[in-house]
Amino acid sequence: MGLQFSFQPLLSILLLLLVTATCVSATYPPMSMRFHRTKSVTKTDSLVDLPPDFVAYNYTQTLDHFNYNPESYATFQQKYVLNFKYWGGPNTSSPIFVYTGAEDPITFQITGFIVELASRFNGLLLYIEHRYYGDSMPFGSEDEAFKNASTFGYLSSTQALADYAQLITDVKKNLSAENCPVIAVGGSYGGMLSSWLRLKYPHIVTGALASSAPILYFDDITPQNGYHVVVTNDFREYSESCYNTIKQSWNEIDRVGAVANGLQDLSRIFSTCSPLDSTQKLKDHISLVYVISAQYDNPPENWVSKVCSAIDGTPQGTDILGRVAAGLNASFLGGGGRPCNYISDFKLNNKSAWDWQTCTEMVMPIGHGGNDTMFEAWPFDLNNLTRTCQAVFGVTPRPHWITTEFGGHVSFFFKHLHCVLQDISDTVVAVYTNEGAHGLDLSSSSPSDPDWLVAQRDKEIKIIQFWIAEYNARLSTTKIGNKVGS
Ligand SMILES: *[C@@H]1O[C@H](CO)[C@@H](O)[C@H](O)[C@H]1NC(C)=O
Ligand SMILES: *[C@@H]1O[C@H](CO)[C@@H](O)[C@H](O)[C@H]1NC(C)=O
Ligand SMILES: *[C@@H]1O[C@H](CO)[C@@H](O)[C@H](O)[C@H]1NC(C)=O
Ligand SMILES: *[C@@H]1O[C@H](CO)[C@@H](O)[C@H](O)[C@H]1NC(C)=O
Ligand SMILES: *[C@@H]1O[C@H](CO)[C@@H](O)[C@H](O)[C@H]1NC(C)=O
Ligand SMILES: *[C@@H]1O[C@H](CO)[C@@H](O)[C@H](O)[C@H]1NC(C)=O
Ligand SMILES: *[C@@H]1O[C@H](CO)[C@@H](O)[C@H](O)[C@H]1NC(C)=O
Ligand SMILES: *[C@@H]1O[C@H](CO)[C@@H](O)[C@H](O)[C@H]1NC(C)=O
Repeated sequence: MGLQFSFQPLLSILLLLLVTATCVSATYPPMSMRFHRTKSVTKTDSLVDLPPDFVAYNYTQTLDHFNYNPESYATFQQKYVLNFKYWGGPNTSSPIFVYTGAEDPITFQITGFIVELASRFNGLLLYIEHRYYGDSMPFGSEDEAFKNASTFGYLSSTQALADYAQLITDVKKNLSAENCPVIAVGGSYGGMLSSWLRLKYPHIVTGALASSAPILYFDDITPQNGYHVVVTNDFREYSESCYNTIKQSWNEIDRVGAVANGLQDLSRIFSTCSPLDSTQKLKDHISLVYVISAQYDNPPENWVSKVCSAIDGTPQGTDILGRVAAGLNASFLGGGGRPCNYISDFKLNNKSAWDWQTCTEMVMPIGHGGNDTMFEAWPFDLNNLTRTCQAVFGVTPRPHWITTEFGGHVSFFFKHLHCVLQDISDTVVAVYTNEGAHGLDLSSSSPSDPDWLVAQRDKEIKIIQFWIAEYNARLSTTKIGNKVGS
């Protein structure tokens, strides 16, 4: 796989990760999908290739929900997927589980825990694709949609949330399901969308399960090096010597790279697929490997322990670079049977929808690692990001001002740093796990799941059960059913 990535998917992962890595050292279910997100793979065959019982539809969606300029009346085809298999129907006011699509084609995201929720609660499954991803392209095609900042300008989380609100309302109406409670479910950026949907449209969404959603990772709420501190702790908890080796390796890479033929030596030591032209690229790539290992440190792979065991387990006398190279090989992106290590290229791509979001509102502060972490620096600190975004898209980041405003009847789950870690109220509930990986709870149950994961999902089921029961209790005492739910 290493050879076929474009960098784009890696960056997305990263930023997401960032987004969440911090959230949990966790694993997002379609992780392999993320890694496969090359151009050719993102093309989904619009309405086919779905498992049985899942059917995709088009919805004629409003391009711009927030003004009445004539051109904002334009529409585009938005993809959504329904599965009626478990649904009790409108008359039983059975719930509707809405998967808030994120930065992937929706067809990558349709299995997992949400299906178990639908089965458990006789729910309807509704998956909505995020605008500018998969087949849901404004202006008719990716080429047109990604043309310039004017066409990209309709891509924002705020527009996406309004899409979801409108589509949910319309689907409910068509199914005469106005009385059915809606539970939003999402992970990582999708989890942010789920929680924001509940916050902004409380009359449409009864509750939200937001897994590894770093909604606090903006502005000055979280320290700039927070992400790297979390990753560092994961490694350090596993092994102090692994942490020390990594921490010392950056200087060593610079030292070796600086001498004559040094880059050649580094290319050989790290078995790179093509000759290195800078030490920075190598350091950025290796940093990415550690970050991904921590973010997706899920059982049974447990990448942090794999990488650190390789680093610590080299023969006596192996030098620092030899140890770090062994760690790279043992990693998800590493050698492991591959002939060489493909070194990712940290460039923002002006044809990437996620990179556009990274350059506009989804600006997560990921500054230099600083002395407290095992990282040296990061290619996208905020100043650097601003310069890069101006060069690539001609825009300046304008971070989303989402803050900790948890008024009202909001209900969702979060885990780990940059996420909400403690209950805010009886109805804003945090389900925190010390173990775990990015969005791990949203993956399908498996007999090999550790006890803490089983317990976490059970707790989530109980909370959702409570929401639905409470909603239905209020519904039964209200004559005008469709006014209930806020
Ligand atoms: C849905 O919209 C896409 C994009 O416009 C189009 O390619 C596809 O044929 C449509 N499918 C249906 C069933 O209308
Ligand atoms: C639901 O209830 C309505 C009104 O009582 C009735 O007309 C309709 O047939 C019922 N639908 C189902 C699927 O039972
Ligand atoms: C991407 O870069 C190309 C070449 O510089 C330019 O023509 C295009 O408009 C850019 N696209 C966006 C979305 O900025
Ligand atoms: C983007 O492209 C459209 C269509 O070609 C054009 O009308 C518009 O002026 C362009 N916008 C920018 C900012 O270049
Ligand atoms: C609801 O039904 C109308 C009329 O058949 C249709 O145009 C619309 O696309 C449907 N909405 C959804 C979300 O399926
Ligand atoms: C890493 O993997 C490559 C490719 O399999 C191999 O040639 C190299 O010797 C390995 N390096 C280390 C340090 O294990
Ligand atoms: C970080 O370490 C460097 C070199 O060891 C030192 O000069 C610097 O003051 C330290 N910075 C902080 C914030 O501690
Ligand atoms: C951002 O930082 C990277 C790595 O330090 C550097 O290679 C790149 O030139 C910087 N980009 C800008 C636009 O300053």
